[in-house]
Amino acid sequence: MRNSFSMRMIKEAKPVMGFLILALLSILLLSLTKALRPQITSDIINLYLEGFTEGSINKEVALVGIEKASIYFFLITLIEFIMSFIRSFALSVAGMKVLYNIRQRLFNHVQNLPLSYFDKTPVGAIVTRLTNDPAAIGDLFNIVLVGFVQSIVYIVVILVFMFAEDITLSLVSIALIPFIAFSTVLFRKVARRVFGAIRQKVSELNVFLNESINGMKIVQLFNLQGKKNKKFEQLNRAYYKANMGRVILFGVFRPLMNVIKYLTIAILLWIGGVRYIDGIISIGTLYLFTYYIGEFFDPIMNLADQISTIQSSVAASEKIYDLLDETPEYNHQKPKVLDVVQGEIRFEHVWFAYNDEEWVLKDVSFTIKPKENVAFVGHTGSGKTTIINLICGFYDVQKGRITIDGIDIRELNKSQYRRSIGLVLQDVSLTEGTILSNIKMNDHQVSDEQVVDIVDQLNLDELINTLEGGYAYPVNQGGTTLSTGQRQLISFARSLIYNPGILIMDEATSNIDSHTESLLKVALNRIVEGRTTISIAHRLSTIKGSHTIFVLHHGTVKEVGNHVELMTKQGLYYKLNLHESRSVS
Ligand SMILES: Nc1ncnc2c1ncn2[C@@H]1O[C@H](COP(=O)(O)OP(=O)(O)OP(=O)(O)O)[C@@H](O)[C@H]1O
Ligand SMILES: [Mg+2]
Repeated sequence: MRNSFSMRMIKEAKPVMGFLILALLSILLLSLTKALRPQITSDIINLYLEGFTEGSINKEVALVGIEKASIYFFLITLIEFIMSFIRSFALSVAGMKVLYNIRQRLFNHVQNLPLSYFDKTPVGAIVTRLTNDPAAIGDLFNIVLVGFVQSIVYIVVILVFMFAEDITLSLVSIALIPFIAFSTVLFRKVARRVFGAIRQKVSELNVFLNESINGMKIVQLFNLQGKKNKKFEQLNRAYYKANMGRVILFGVFRPLMNVIKYLTIAILLWIGGVRYIDGIISIGTLYLFTYYIGEFFDPIMNLADQISTIQSSVAASEKIYDLLDETPEYNHQKPKVLDVVQGEIRFEHVWFAYNDEEWVLKDVSFTIKPKENVAFVGHTGSGKTTIINLICGFYDVQKGRITIDGIDIRELNKSQYRRSIGLVLQDVSLTEGTILSNIKMNDHQVSDEQVVDIVDQLNLDELINTLEGGYAYPVNQGGTTLSTGQRQLISFARSLIYNPGILIMDEATSNIDSHTESLLKVALNRIVEGRTTISIAHRLSTIKGSHTIFVLHHGTVKEVGNHVELMTKQGLYYKLNLHESRSVS
């Protein structure tokens, strides 16, 4: 797992390799300039100040030397500035590019996941995966490269400089490192738990918010605000507490590291002082070591922070890869393309369950002939919509097969054959834009004339005229500023835009008044001509004229026939009709 993870990270980094190499080179140079700077100060102290005091060089030589050294000092700082800029720029660009790529891939992938994935995953969790988690991968690049690599390079460079200067003092400087290492490991362990908890709480918070805001109508209707508040308070507090863990952890760790740093400096001053008095080292060397210790501890302390950030980023990245590894909707390797859909639909011993073994359809077989006009009826929950879902290929069957024009739908090019299905559903959701853009589904190949033509055919001019601005009437996300019936009518027009060979209407007129419905009915009689049409309706009077009616009962086809045949049979269909006429009268 770890291994394949690093492989994936390397793959992620490939397109930005140039930037990364540039950043690494600048980091290397930066470390050198940083280590060289105190060396110059030390030289000024040793060569010129002490030399002048001891009388080994005259004033003239000392002043020229100091001037030169100061200029070097400034030049080194200038190089450092330029390198810092190059490093930050290269890394930011690399990070952003990687992020951009991952987000793009994720969204594309999510769009191709089977609907069953969305049945079992809360929207909030998916949104987090697309917004927060990629940022964590960005962090990984920035922190690993800016921070981690830079710290390590810097530590190594300083160590080399220190040991070249004085071995005893170098050993003193690194004496407490095992203790630092131990605390760091401990810190890492705790940090992993704390960050895991924080991420968990954020995710819970997001899921809850998403649910609450989407269901605001229900919340207000049932006066659930109090309960929701309480629940939110709980989640919010848990999040607060999880963060508290982090605050305490960092509050202890940093100061502790500082104590160790100054303890080391104290020991260094002591031993260094003795060595100076004994004449073994110069003042410049002592200065150099106190300076290096300060510089040396920072990257070491940073390592701990960086490692914990890397861990949380790795965790987030693994979640992203889990999502990317979700098998996308099944698509055949070499899908067949149906140029002209005749519209024959066959179910052969189909068994289907949304959740394993909870069979919703049990051994269902039937044939809908091309251009036939059929209806499915049955009690609520008997499996009517499920059959539609399967015909559209939203879910895959567990046993048996479904064919369109004799070809198993698993072998068909999904996006192509879905175009030959016009689908009108019970609850229609529209997208942000206008009436026109919603009927066109933002397809630029569809002309305005085509839209007007379809609206004419459906006798929907009246609807368009009543809306202010007509086709330009603005639609918000979900289309909630239109009535449910208006939305259904718009989706009628939308479903016919590609002139589909198969038209499916699932409770499509359930929210439309009887006057508009009768207008529509007249239009539909013309439109269904030459297409396979499947209607589902609870109002049985609306499907009386169908060539064939399938009566579903608990996921099986109980009766098949036309209205007259089924009525004479005096079975389930007859009973359903009886109930309906009773409730009407
Ligand atoms: N996405 C889903 N995940 C799990 N179970 C589901 C899902 N959709 C439907 N079901 C279950 O499948 C069964 C059949 O549902 P279906 O929507 O096909 O009924 P229906 O005949 O269309 O009912 P209605 O007349 O109310 O629309 C129901 O028991 C339902 O609980
Ligand atoms: Mg249904």
